[in-house]
Amino acid sequence: MDIVPLRPGFGAELRGVTLADVANDDAAYAAVRAAFEEYSVLLFRDQQIDGEGQLAFSRRFGPPEVTKVGSLGTGTNFVILTTIGPDGKVVPEDHRYAMRNKANQLWHTDSSFKTVPALTSVLSARTIPASGGETEFASTRLAFERLPPALQQQLENSFAWHSYAHSRGKIQQGLATDEEMATLPPVCWRMVWKNPVNGRKALYIASHTYAVEGMEPKAGEKLIADLTAAATAPGTTYEHKWRAGDVIMWDNRATMHRGRPWPGNEPRYMVRTTISATAADGVESMRPPPRLAAE
Ligand code: OGA
Ligand code: MN
Repeated sequence: MDIVPLRPGFGAELRGVTLADVANDDAAYAAVRAAFEEYSVLLFRDQQIDGEGQLAFSRRFGPPEVTKVGSLGTGTNFVILTTIGPDGKVVPEDHRYAMRNKANQLWHTDSSFKTVPALTSVLSARTIPASGGETEFASTRLAFERLPPALQQQLENSFAWHSYAHSRGKIQQGLATDEEMATLPPVCWRMVWKNPVNGRKALYIASHTYAVEGMEPKAGEKLIADLTAAATAPGTTYEHKWRAGDVIMWDNRATMHRGRPWPGNEPRYMVRTTISATAADGVESMRPPPRLAAE
């Protein structure tokens, strides 16, 4: 396996290894897992992709999430991100599918609004537009390392609240349904996730983050906005232009990502599998004191 960095500091293309190798071979998994801990974003090109193969690969890294209510693929281990409607035609730009893609265009990390956050997401390109529709990644590990020491220390002792309704509300009031709101109450996490393998620390924030515990609402919002801007500053990100056969996995503990727009009349169809974080991934250390846990 060859590791070819995608940019300085994070992100790598892995060559000479397939999803099936990782699914079937312990040594291949160990090599990819080590690269994942180190590089945070991994690109596999020219893969033979189907749902079963993607899931077998993903399961190596931990337990797969079951897709929540309100998302395409609910009840399965797949999230379908598409603008192709049930009739096979591209949906209008104000359709719920299109609005959901818009919400994915805010900087975020997946599943921070759930009671079990995600270790990694694995995204495969099935139908890609001729232009646009890139996915852009930022390292919240490098972002944390760039902060002044006093702020690092403050954040290591801080907790923030995350809610799905909050990020959806930024796109359209009511985009999160009553059912989604009822099943996804706000959750609270530490603002810094320490990687148990290499000890490196990363900011843990997302479009879902709406408040910092112990701060005035406005001041908390400003801190979240400022940290997001610093973490995603121009020149620090990796923007991936999808090619057929591409699969990307990312570390939700140490990155943020966002989708980029594309011409609304062109179809795009992507399939995601998401792996829950376990104790070995450091999730227990992210939990707030019991008084802050959501009811
Ligand atoms: C995701 C996501 C962005 C995109 O799959 O979690 O945010 O470019 N995708 O589709
Ligand atoms: Mn996402």
